[in-house]
Amino acid sequence: TFVTLRISVIGTGYLGATHAACMAELGYEVIGVDVDKAKLESLAAGILPFHEPGLPELLRKNVASGRLRFTDDYEDVAANADIHFITVGTPQRADSQSADLSYVDGAVDSLLEHITGDALIVGKSTVPVGTARRLSEKIAQDAKPGSNIAIAWNPEFLREGFAVKDTLRPDRLVYGLEDGRGLELLREVYASVLAQDVPEIVTDLETAELVKVAANAFLATKISFINAFAEVTETVGGNIKTLADAIGHDKRIGRQFLNAGVGFGGGCLPKDIRALQARVSELGLTQTMGFLGEVDQINLRRRDRVVSLASNMLGNELAGKHICVLGVTFKPNSDDVRDSPALDIAVRLYNAGAEVSVYDPEGNANAAGRFPRLNYVDSHQEAARNADLTLVLTEWQEFRDLDPNELGEVVASKMLIDGRNVLDRPAWREQGWVMTGPGEYFELNSNNAATGPVPVQQ
Ligand code: UDX
Repeated sequence: TFVTLRISVIGTGYLGATHAACMAELGYEVIGVDVDKAKLESLAAGILPFHEPGLPELLRKNVASGRLRFTDDYEDVAANADIHFITVGTPQRADSQSADLSYVDGAVDSLLEHITGDALIVGKSTVPVGTARRLSEKIAQDAKPGSNIAIAWNPEFLREGFAVKDTLRPDRLVYGLEDGRGLELLREVYASVLAQDVPEIVTDLETAELVKVAANAFLATKISFINAFAEVTETVGGNIKTLADAIGHDKRIGRQFLNAGVGFGGGCLPKDIRALQARVSELGLTQTMGFLGEVDQINLRRRDRVVSLASNMLGNELAGKHICVLGVTFKPNSDDVRDSPALDIAVRLYNAGAEVSVYDPEGNANAAGRFPRLNYVDSHQEAARNADLTLVLTEWQEFRDLDPNELGEVVASKMLIDGRNVLDRPAWREQGWVMTGPGEYFELNSNNAATGPVPVQQ
C-alpha cells in the first residue's frame, strides 16, 4: 500500500518556504516549522514575506489543498512527520567571519526532545564542514530511548528569482549519508525530480557540506576574477565585456558569472566565502582559502570605485548634490537587499552629504527598513528628477530599457554611471550623456573612453 510521505521543513525563510511549498506540490504532507509566529500566520494565509516569482501561487494552492500547514509546535512535528528538513539560517556572526549555527542546533535539539520512533533528519542549510558529523554525535547522545534517527546532508543550490525551478528541476541532487541510511527515503522524496534525468550524487557527509560552499566560492571567485580585470582595463583601456566574451567561448571557462559590475552581494555568496575561510582556518589550514580574502577585497573595491567615480564626476564634492540611484537590491527580480552593493553605495553617497533618491521596482521597502533616511520614490522618473548624476546599480529590465532622451528631459545633468554595463553607451553618448561603467577607462573631459586603447597614465 502506498503511504504518503510526511515531511517537516524547519525554518521558513527563503529556502524553507520554497522547499515546503515544492514538497507539498510533489504531493507530500508537509508541515512548515518556525519560531516566528507572525511569519507562520502570514504563510498559512498564503502571503510570502519576500518576492519570489511563482512561489505565492504554489504556497496558496498547497495550503488550500491541506497538504501544507504551519506550526511552531515540535510535538506536533515529531508526531506527524518522518523526514525533517533543516532549512534554518546560518548567518555570519556579529563578532567574526564564521557562521552562527545556533538555529541549526536549536532545531535538532527540539526534534530530539520529541522524536520517539524512526526519523530521518536532512540538513539543507549551508554549514561549515564537520557540522553534520557533530550533529550525528549529538543524535547518538541525546535521542530518546527507543527512537531511531538517521542524519543526511542534502545541500540546496537555489538562486533567488529561480527558487521554484531550482528546487523542482535542479542541476543536481547531492546527498551526504552517514552509513547509507536515508538513501531510500531521499530517493522516494525526489523520485519525480530524478525522473527528469537530474544527476544524483550520493556521498559522505563532509563532501556534501563542501559541495555547497565550493560551488559558491567558485562563483564568487569567477565574479571577482573578471572584476580584477576590470580594474586593469579601467587603468589601461580595453573592453571588459569583449574580454569576458572572448575567454567565455572557451568551454572550460564559460561565459556565465563573468559580468563585471558593482560586485556580488546577497544572503549567500559574501557570507559563505567568509565562513569557509573561517572554518578552514579553524582546521589549521590558514593559508588554504587565503585567496578568498582577495576575492572579498576585490568585490568590496567595486563599491569604492563607484563612489569615487561619482565624486569625481561631481567635481569632487558630493555635499548637496542630487544623486539618482536606480536599483538597490543585490540583483534584479528580487526584493533582497542583504549585503547589497547597490544599497551600500547609496548609503555611502548619502553619508558623504549627497541627497540620494532611490527607486527599485521591488526593493524600496526592504531598503527603507534598513536605511530610512534615503529618499525612496515610486518611479525611475521621480528618482531622476533634477539629478546631477544617475547611477544604475541593479540590472532590472526596466533600467535596461531606459530611454536616454526621456531620462535626459528630467535630470539636471546628463551624467550616468552604468554600474552593471547594461546600457548601450554609444547610443546614450549620442544623446549627450557623459557616462561610464565598470571596466572602462574614463577621463571626465574626454568621455570617449570606450573607443580604442588609451595610453597608460603615469
Ligand atoms: C547564489 C548561488 O547562485 C546559488 O546557487 C546559491 O544557492 C545561493 O547563492 P543568489 O544569491 O540568489 O544565488 O544570487 P546569484 O544569482 O548567484 O548572484 C549573486 C551575486 O553575484 C549578485 O549580487 C549578482 O549581481 C552578482 N553577479 C552575478 C555579478 O556581479 N556578476 C555576474 O556575472 C553574476
